[in-house]
Amino acid sequence: MKSIERTWKLNGTATTLRFPAGRRLLDLLREDLALTGAKEGCGEGECGACTVLIDNDPAVSCLIPAGQLPDGTTLLTIEGVEKKRAGRVLQKAFMETGAVQCGFCIPGMVLAAYALLQRNPKPSTAAIRTALAGNLCRCTGYVKIIAAVKLAAARLRKTSSTPG
Ligand code: FES
Ligand code: FES
Repeated sequence: MKSIERTWKLNGTATTLRFPAGRRLLDLLREDLALTGAKEGCGEGECGACTVLIDNDPAVSCLIPAGQLPDGTTLLTIEGVEKKRAGRVLQKAFMETGAVQCGFCIPGMVLAAYALLQRNPKPSTAAIRTALAGNLCRCTGYVKIIAAVKLAAARLRKTSSTPG
């Protein structure tokens, strides 16, 4: 199969990769780059476990051929978000509110919540539900997840005007 080359800003670093045309972004991240925070759940775009941020928007990496992303694309995975203050605040809030059970959905949830808080530092319950609608959790019933996002948002508002 023909191979192609792309240079992206991946977790803050300019990264050039060569890969077969048609390779899924999820496989590229997990297998070639050992960025295993994105999980494969359904493999069909339904569960959100494979969520990454592409140019700051959540996207399901299981459905995206990596070659579709042009040079200069900004990609953020959970490994990159963990290095950002807002990502750490979100993860801590998820732990403290008991929103993490098996944890399989959590990287995708945190990424979707991070993208939401970048746009909306004080989201309503409805806004959080909408932002996380593509991320399924088999364990929690979502009440604690929504509480976690609200807690993180409140803490971030206290310390900064932007979630960074
Ligand atoms: S694994 Fe990608 S949406 Fe489920
Ligand atoms: S904590 Fe188990 S799927 Fe969400």
